[in-house]
Amino acid sequence: MNGDPLVLEVPDLGDDQLRLRPWRLDDAPSLVRAWHDPAVIEGSRPPADRSLATAARWIEGCDERRRAGLAFDLVIAGSDDRVMGEVGLSKLNPRRRAALIGWWTHAQERGRGVATTAVSLFTDWALGSGGLRALLAEIGAGHDASIRVAEAAGFRPLENSRNPQETARGRASRVWYVAVSTVK
Ligand SMILES: CC(C)(COP(=O)(O)OP(=O)(O)OC[C@H]1O[C@@H](n2cnc3c(N)ncnc32)[C@H](O)[C@@H]1OP(=O)(O)O)[C@@H](O)C(=O)NCCC(=O)NCCS
Repeated sequence: MNGDPLVLEVPDLGDDQLRLRPWRLDDAPSLVRAWHDPAVIEGSRPPADRSLATAARWIEGCDERRRAGLAFDLVIAGSDDRVMGEVGLSKLNPRRRAALIGWWTHAQERGRGVATTAVSLFTDWALGSGGLRALLAEIGAGHDASIRVAEAAGFRPLENSRNPQETARGRASRVWYVAVSTVK
């Protein structure tokens, strides 16, 4: 039924350097660190209260949000299980079988292909056996690293997705990228 929430099961995804897994309570300090990273703040929307208690509550709520079809967030974990980053979905739309995807990596993990690998694995799964038809990514216009990640994972820019008023004023704009399922 169209009104049912879009509930995704946690997939078993990874390679020899990383795997995707649910958030755990002992990851809370790492999440707080990400929430205070200016690059992560710019690229995503951490909560106003970025305390350890808020991070713990957010992690505790992850599975409930997944089961309610509200969000789906996975840790990008290293071979030693440390948190290297996150890839997740929000705005899940059961009628369109579409969602908004977002990602970040910790500053010390960047530049080694972590986001490219994780986002590609996640996107292939979501648009394949995950059963989604489309994923959208909202990326800052000049954010080259994220654009490279998106393009490597099969996303393409949506035509005319820049806000013309913002562009005319020379302000940083955000661009929408989309990846669609090829599964019939
Ligand atoms: C965007 C981000 C996730 C990239 O993570 P990463 O693990 O460093 O990504 P990768 O190592 O897979 O590199 C991705 C590409 O960006 C390129 N890149 C990395 N840093 C770059 C920079 N400062 N300028 C231009 N390109 C850059 C890499 O060379 C690579 O391209 P290539 O595969 O063609 O060589 C990370 O910088 C981040 O968390 N930023 C803040 C949060 C954010 O903006 N999230 C996106 C919201 S949608």
